[in-house]
Amino acid sequence: MKGLILSGGKGTRLRPITHTAAKQLVPVANKPILFYAIEAMVEAGIRDIGIIVGDTHLEVREAVGDGSAWGARVAYIQQEAPLGLAHAVKIAEDFMAGDDFVMYLGDNLIRGGLQPFVRQFDEDKPDAMILLAHVANPRQFGVAELGEDGRVVRLEEKPPEPRSDLALVGVYLFTRRIFDAVHAIKPSPRGELEITDAIQYLIDHQHRVMPHVIKGWWKDTGKLSDMLEANRIMLDDLETSIEGRLEGTSQVQGRVAIAPGAVLVDTVVRGPAVIGPGARLEQTFVGPYTSIGPDVAITGSEIEHSIVLAGSRITNLEGRITDSLLGKDVEICRSDRTPRAHRLMIGDHGRVELP
Ligand code: DAU
Repeated sequence: MKGLILSGGKGTRLRPITHTAAKQLVPVANKPILFYAIEAMVEAGIRDIGIIVGDTHLEVREAVGDGSAWGARVAYIQQEAPLGLAHAVKIAEDFMAGDDFVMYLGDNLIRGGLQPFVRQFDEDKPDAMILLAHVANPRQFGVAELGEDGRVVRLEEKPPEPRSDLALVGVYLFTRRIFDAVHAIKPSPRGELEITDAIQYLIDHQHRVMPHVIKGWWKDTGKLSDMLEANRIMLDDLETSIEGRLEGTSQVQGRVAIAPGAVLVDTVVRGPAVIGPGARLEQTFVGPYTSIGPDVAITGSEIEHSIVLAGSRITNLEGRITDSLLGKDVEICRSDRTPRAHRLMIGDHGRVELP
């Protein structure tokens, strides 16, 4: 079995964070979302992985390399534009060379791995298997309708009037039959070749599409609130490791990972929290569910339930920062300049909330 990870497309909802970066590379618990997909595949015994890339291909290639860091072989498949999930499958046909494969959307996070699904697929040998989850907001997803016998009857992409609350999770298992489907279907009204239409084609042509309703946690990480939730869930699985240096009155409480080269001076970190390599925290409080990225510098401030990306600097803030996502090299500081005022430089679609 091979793997196909979709890491093309454009990250529109997480702007400005994704203006310059692939949304699949935004870190959750200091690890790019995409890496969780690679790890899950390798853990399920999948070593040959094709990654679909688009405009942000250079960053993705640099981050993942040839896959040897995971003991995998990674090949890149360039997609000229985000023409749909089924289009991505179509251009992966040569790479798959007739093998079964797991397709994983690179912005999805699934707790608990792929092993159970891969095993079930190998045992039952359907033509395709889809993962489903009950959701509160089915209009935002592909939605499946199951018949009384539990079989998949119909799939619809982001229907205005969903027939069920069962959303398609971004993991699919396919046999070579899917290629007949992606060649036969036409673009949807939004101009994309939809994977839901391709799977519907399999159903309509009497192929066996097996549903599997997952019980574990799953997230499609598009928005800030999703990112913070994902960060929380992944930090809940964190194991303590203190490789950085604690100086002065510094203390860590609960599950905390401090990377090599990080320095804490007179600082309290209350886990679960991760502190990246080269970070420097002085007279600071880091509260639960916080990920501090590499080379971040925080002095005289308090932060919790937040994600801070590489190279950012926070200095002498009065109030505590909470529920926040700071991009790379962001700077927040207190200033004594007159007039006493807020001075801001914020990217497109940024948001600042002041008490
Ligand atoms: O997250 C689950 C949902 O994912 C499913 O319920 C939907 O049925 C499915 O269509 C998909 O919906 P999204 O609107 O979330 O798809 P999005 O455009 O965000 O693309 C998902 C990933 O695939 C993302 O990492 C970008 C990548 N992608 C997307 C397209 C359209 C590509 O690599 N190439 C593409 O052409």
